[in-house]
Amino acid sequence: MNRFQKILTTAGAGLVALGIAFAATAAGPDASVQSLRGPVAVDSANAKPDIHGVEEGNSFGRSYRQQPPLIPHRIDKYEVDLKTNQCLSCHDWPFNTEFGAPKVSETHYVDRQGNRLDDVARTRWFCTQCHVPQMDAPELVENTFEPARD
Ligand code: HEC
Ligand code: HEC
Repeated sequence: MNRFQKILTTAGAGLVALGIAFAATAAGPDASVQSLRGPVAVDSANAKPDIHGVEEGNSFGRSYRQQPPLIPHRIDKYEVDLKTNQCLSCHDWPFNTEFGAPKVSETHYVDRQGNRLDDVARTRWFCTQCHVPQMDAPELVENTFEPARD
């Protein structure tokens, strides 16, 4: 095989590979490749997601002892930012007595060095880092979670 023939053979192999790739695309999408929204055509709209409202009133209880309790009421109207925390206007002492709300736990007045403070610690300021409104929704990932009991 001279150099010219070699170039021709390589070019030929390249064309065959291209042809196979083209045939694969022409045959339709590869079923083993799935997009995050499943087998839905690109131009069709998604199915509406289930909307689960907050279950108000009865508390779901805790799934394990150390769990931050779920919130048994809606929170969309309560502002929490750098300066304001409306959760505390019901859940901090002495306002909790007035609103009949459970007081934030004593652990929430201890900073990360273990100092006991008069106000809620900054490490507990953004309540929804740990507490979320309760909803009766299916789990996002199937699991067999069991709390440790010993
Ligand atoms: C208007 C007063 C009020 C505001 C504001 C408020 N809550 Fe509550 N919260 C309550 C009351 C009252 C309860 C007791 C259960 C009930 O009646 O819904 C409660 C219950 C809870 C509980 C359950 C506690 C437990 O021991 O089970 C959590 C957690 C909670 N709230 C977190 C929050 C967070 C976080 C915010 C802010 C985003 C907030 N709350 C804002 C009044 C309030
Ligand atoms: C870093 C996570 C974390 C943050 C942030 C946090 N909490 Fe908690 N909270 C917990 C855990 C865990 C518990 C249960 C154990 C305990 O009492 O410390 C709890 C308990 C509570 C309770 C129940 C107290 C009781 O005695 O039944 C209330 C009410 C509460 N938190 C409200 C709040 C509010 C309001 C904020 C925001 C100002 C907040 N928490 C911020 C983790 C957190």
